[in-house]
Amino acid sequence: MPGDQKNEKAKIHVAKNGPYLVSGGIPLSRQTIVCNARGDSVAWQEGEHYPVQEKYSLCRCGGSGDKPFCDGTHLKIHFDGTETASRVPYLERAEWVEGRDIRMSDAPGFCSHARFCVRGNGIWDLVERQKSQEMREKAIEEGAKCHSGRLVIWDRKTGEPLEPGLPPSIGVVEGPGTGLQGPLWVRGRIPVLSSRGFTYEVRNRVTLCRCGRSGNKPYCDGSHREK
Ligand code: FES
Repeated sequence: MPGDQKNEKAKIHVAKNGPYLVSGGIPLSRQTIVCNARGDSVAWQEGEHYPVQEKYSLCRCGGSGDKPFCDGTHLKIHFDGTETASRVPYLERAEWVEGRDIRMSDAPGFCSHARFCVRGNGIWDLVERQKSQEMREKAIEEGAKCHSGRLVIWDRKTGEPLEPGLPPSIGVVEGPGTGLQGPLWVRGRIPVLSSRGFTYEVRNRVTLCRCGRSGNKPYCDGSHREK
């Protein structure tokens, strides 16, 4: 179940036109998207763990020379970090895909284009057709790998989400492709506080922009993939 492990002090404050101010000793590690020979995203690979710090600042503008940390470059480049993301809760924005004993909620506005869901005929087909236990398991696996939380698989009987309870932590996402820097993968229901004085919906997994180009700040919208 999501939210099994708690860190009451953990929070991320979005600084106005500046970095993410992280507090509560949240673990930080590199997370790389692994692709198969066809270029499909198939797995997450955990890399370097940064030394645990009680507080630290993560670059949001994409210009730091000390990524993933902020080095003050946002001031020199006059970074416009205006937050434009919707505050409508996930379930009010989601469309539903119905399957035999699972269903899937899908809110495309959260997508950060990791592409685990487009293998084969796509996760939508797996949920809808769900002819075998294998298809069910594959849909659950692909849904759980969606780091942005766009896709959530639910058990029809219990009404509960079928995803792991992630420990509070932040992943610095890289790939797919050499040198491609993805978003910050925020896991384990860490509150994200807006520079405008409210808290975004607290979720098991979301992705925050760290290239500075998202049109859905503070969330990632996949703009890092555009050249
Ligand atoms: S937000 Fe400070 S250097 Fe990018």
